[in-house]
Amino acid sequence: MAVKVREHWGSKIGVVLATAGNAVGLGNLLRFPSKVALYGGGAFIVPYLISLTLLGLPLMWVEWMAGRYGGIRGHGSTVGILGVITRGNVLARLLGIFGVAAPILIVFYYIYIESWTLGFALHSLFGKMPTPVATTETSEALKPFTEFLKNYTAPSLEAYIIFWITLFLNWIVLHRGIRRGIELAAKVGMPALFLMGIMLMVVIFTSSGHNPEWSAIKGLEYIWKPNFSRIFDGKVWVEAAGQIFFTLSLGMGAIAVYASYVKEDEDIVLTGLATTSINEFVEVIIGSAIAIPAAFLFFGPESIRELAEAGTFRLGFMSMPAVLISLPLGFFWSFLWFMLLFIAAFTSSIALIQPMIAFLEDELNISHGRAVSISMITVIIGAHLAIFIPGYIDELDFWAGSFMLIFFGILEIIFFVWLFGPNNFIDELNKGASIKVPKWVAYITGTITLAFLIFILVIWLAQNLSVMINQKGTGIWLARITIIVFVLILAALTVATTKRNSD
Ligand code: ALA
Repeated sequence: MAVKVREHWGSKIGVVLATAGNAVGLGNLLRFPSKVALYGGGAFIVPYLISLTLLGLPLMWVEWMAGRYGGIRGHGSTVGILGVITRGNVLARLLGIFGVAAPILIVFYYIYIESWTLGFALHSLFGKMPTPVATTETSEALKPFTEFLKNYTAPSLEAYIIFWITLFLNWIVLHRGIRRGIELAAKVGMPALFLMGIMLMVVIFTSSGHNPEWSAIKGLEYIWKPNFSRIFDGKVWVEAAGQIFFTLSLGMGAIAVYASYVKEDEDIVLTGLATTSINEFVEVIIGSAIAIPAAFLFFGPESIRELAEAGTFRLGFMSMPAVLISLPLGFFWSFLWFMLLFIAAFTSSIALIQPMIAFLEDELNISHGRAVSISMITVIIGAHLAIFIPGYIDELDFWAGSFMLIFFGILEIIFFVWLFGPNNFIDELNKGASIKVPKWVAYITGTITLAFLIFILVIWLAQNLSVMINQKGTGIWLARITIIVFVLILAALTVATTKRNSD
């Protein structure tokens, strides 16, 4: 079959910014600080940095190699790419469904949280956020914000309207395609994101809190002081590795699909490195220099664990606006914070929807407009379940946001390194590269990275599986049914198109 002409990114800087936008998201600015706070600062950072080196960068290169290889041959979703690598093997293509299903299932809840950030940004802009109670007792000070978030996400009518606005913004950008949509959004959004992040860092570090003993620097110390006390705690390793997957958008087909739109001579070694570095800059520099130091400054060291234990949203949606609003020009800083979150989330949600669009276009030969509409309607249905059914989001996050990513990461190494061949992997990766990756990297990826991932998966299953399986509730069952039905539909479509796509 003739290879279809696929769209390409318009410029090198466009590729880097779009993929950085893909990776930089709520994971960097909300999930990371919460995990760091919850798992004891420096005790989390040690396994985190080891996971970044042993899992993050190698898998990033695996996905860049696979994406470009598939893209040149007309396939951008992992279903198609695995088909290309195995000359149309139906089982391989079926396994590729993980890289289409996981990102969309994540979007079901991600896009709703994204819409809160837009809602909170608008509230801040119009001075309609609550103001903190003047006390150093954390939960008292945050009470107006706790109430505000609870009422807003109930959901209120306003939250529902802003959710639809967020959906349409995603729809429009995706409809405009790779160059005029995704790339343009990243070219505008990413520089704005860096600027806002740096401004907020400066504001936090030049403010003084209620107590001279508490300083923003101490917050940084809490994160960065190496602490080996939990080095043998499997849970911390699983969380750190899971964070690397989530933050770098790995194991979800989202990097591979963006890589499938590069030209044949693109330096993907450097671009993969740039994606990882920019993401880590936003996570460990900007992400760690805002929420935790701000909480340290205003609520003191004792509050950090309490804030983190109360859930991912407490630092971002309650303590941050409370701190910022108590500063001069407070509503403006709060607006900046939520816009920062919104841009980060927006450039990631479009990336999480794109694998399904590519699947429909490349495997089913559906036109771009229709592929976007079908994908967005799927998101609308799924997001409604996530909004209105209690327990649904946690169950989806458990399977799609954790299990599937690690499992698919293992499959990617087996297919793209071992079955494709370690030498082919490195040769393909190095095509067009100004600095070549040495061959041993393929063997490290195929052995150490793979063993590390299997180890993480085993601990994860041992810790969570029986607890999760025994959980009951309508939301939990509905989430499981959604996953199964969705995967079965994708499987039927994959099988039906396998012959045509391998001819
Ligand atoms: N990588 C994206 C994030 O960090 C999904 O939010």
